[in-house]
Amino acid sequence: MLKENLKVKLGSLKLRNPTILAAGILGLTGGSLRRVWRSEAGAVTTKSVGIKPREGYPGPRIVETSGGLLNAMGLPNPGIKNIVDEIKIAKKAGATVIGSIFGNKKEEFTHLAQKIEKAGADAIELNLSCPHAETLTTIGHDPELTREITEVVEKIETPIWVKLPGNTHLSNLTQVAKAAEVSGAESLVLSNTFPGMAIDIKTRRPILGHETGGLSGPAIKPIGLRLVYEISQSVEIPIIGAGGIRKSEDAIEYILAGASAVEVGTGIMQEGLGIFQDICRGITSFLEGREMKEIIGLAHQT
Ligand SMILES: Cc1cc2nc3c(=O)[nH]c(=O)nc-3n(C[C@H](O)[C@H](O)[C@H](O)COP(=O)(O)O)c2cc1C
Repeated sequence: MLKENLKVKLGSLKLRNPTILAAGILGLTGGSLRRVWRSEAGAVTTKSVGIKPREGYPGPRIVETSGGLLNAMGLPNPGIKNIVDEIKIAKKAGATVIGSIFGNKKEEFTHLAQKIEKAGADAIELNLSCPHAETLTTIGHDPELTREITEVVEKIETPIWVKLPGNTHLSNLTQVAKAAEVSGAESLVLSNTFPGMAIDIKTRRPILGHETGGLSGPAIKPIGLRLVYEISQSVEIPIIGAGGIRKSEDAIEYILAGASAVEVGTGIMQEGLGIFQDICRGITSFLEGREMKEIIGLAHQT
């Protein structure tokens, strides 16, 4: 069921529909990326990869909370060398592939982006939720660091998407979003998980091995939605909404708030891979024959 009017344009990249596999879920192998693509996602994102393979934090790494999932994975990943072949496998199956990368300084981002481009990815998503090597500030909380990294990476030809950390400090988020835009990002992804924790009252200790983690799933949808609504008034580039999308209605809310597409992560664990088809079906009937671009940001109209 591939409908013409579900097509969207994110900068120079065209997607067959506005649903995207979020980074970190089923994005480690070419086989799983291909499987999600065949489940009708409009694009698939790899797990975020760094320069070297990384084991991540000790467990427990995931805990369920009311309305959401807390995770402290610590970015376990096979390293750039190993993801390149996986991207090629997914590309061979015809998938639109987004390569997600993270680093601690601009030189790392540049190196990773070059490798992802060579592998044939259609866009590169910069995961800016990591600390900067020298200042230890979360990169995506700092407009200057965001500008510096986006600018160097932007020199390569593949479109750059900037994915920002979950951040409810609106004036800071707006500055960072604008810094990404002026530095050449083609799209913004709002957002990654939001900080949270859970405590085991019997042992009186934090449940996650890393103590604190990132909250995803339905609990964060109203927060993510508000950020898309607010930031879409400050930037011209397309926004990709993420956070708590489980049903087509959730995706439609994000689109009406100003998102041109949505990323889906935790919802897959809850609904299975049919979620992409279900969301597309729901958007199709909501569209009633209209084009996607006609409904993006409609909630802003007075
Ligand atoms: C288990 C898990 C692992 C994740 N790993 C990554 C990652 O490697 N890179 C990244 O940018 N985001 C990562 N995320 C964040 C998701 O891509 C997404 O932005 C966030 O979970 C909000 O969307 P959701 O509520 O649909 O899951 C991860 C999320 C989860 C739950």
